Amino acid sequence: MIVHRTDPYNAEPPPGALVGQVTPLDTFYGRNHGPIPRMDAASWRLRVDGLVDRALQLSMGELERRFPEREVVATLQCAGNRRADLLEFRDIPGQEPWGPGATSTASWSGVGLADVLAEAGLQAEAAHIAFTGTDVSQEADPPQAFGASISAAKATSGEVILAWAMNGQALPVAHGAPLRVVVPGWIGARSVKWIQRVTAQVEPSDNYFQTVYKVLPPEADPAKADPGEGIILGPVALNCGILRPDRGAQLPSGPTEVIGYAFAGEDRTVARVDVSSNGGSTWVQADLDAPESAWTWQHWRTILTLPAGERELIARAWDSTAAVQPESPATVWNPKGYANNSWARLHVTCHP
Ligand code: MTE
Repeated sequence: MIVHRTDPYNAEPPPGALVGQVTPLDTFYGRNHGPIPRMDAASWRLRVDGLVDRALQLSMGELERRFPEREVVATLQCAGNRRADLLEFRDIPGQEPWGPGATSTASWSGVGLADVLAEAGLQAEAAHIAFTGTDVSQEADPPQAFGASISAAKATSGEVILAWAMNGQALPVAHGAPLRVVVPGWIGARSVKWIQRVTAQVEPSDNYFQTVYKVLPPEADPAKADPGEGIILGPVALNCGILRPDRGAQLPSGPTEVIGYAFAGEDRTVARVDVSSNGGSTWVQADLDAPESAWTWQHWRTILTLPAGERELIARAWDSTAAVQPESPATVWNPKGYANNSWARLHVTCHP
């Protein structure tokens, strides 16, 4: 893993480790804002409260017995994925320089959030569902447990899971055991780990991390920004990454296989990926995997014939609404460095 910080632990796999459709547990990126809490699953309870007809307190055993088990294969992608490319345009102090590996895919199993909310009886005024974790983050002002919210429409849509298993194994503590939320198609920050409370409410969560994960205009000062300023992040913006060859690779000239992923977020899928080795003057269409579901990345690959010399490989994805990624990091630069979905670029040197 490429460890950006040990305390709290923040690490991404080297890009080449992400070529499989499902990411092994020991390769899945880790993003934490506080210490990883050790929780006693036996005494742990999930509280479901707020604008519901029946508040619930559920043990793991009750969750397993009272609700059907559901599984979803979903890609998680951190809003800070590919921040490193933004830093080349303008510095972003204090934020992890994530490469293209702050994203991974797993099969998640547990219970459907929609089923739990139906059992509690969601009231008509409940427009947002808030989640509270257990880890207290000193990064927050004031320090508080990590939290987030999603719209009630997303929460009751069926694909949102309260997960206790990942790739058929017990959910690792580092990824949120005993129970975490998985919000397919939305930025990773809404998939709250070590969850202890689900609250139905009129307004979005006022948790520090709900409001911090937003795109501010370039001239804004995050420390002074009005809480209402900026675009609060939910669904993931169309994005792609180059996984092979390695950044800075020394290659023989001639045919070179280029492999990457693309991810469209929410219920969009990737429709096309173009690759160029001449600055975008000409493009070839990569072979693109069919979407396994709307909730996962799609891998793509192509062979480029590279002449000797310094080369920049570029990839850009199109989604099922015909939206295409923006060309440069300068277009999307923002003070916290979120949602960089500009064309993926990577330098290689080809020897004769
Ligand atoms: N949940 C809690 N309780 N604490 C956190 O720090 N980080 C969030 C989210 N859920 C976080 C959390 C962020 S920013 C991301 S991208 C994902 O978890 C990362 O999940 P992972 O570490 O399992 O990859």
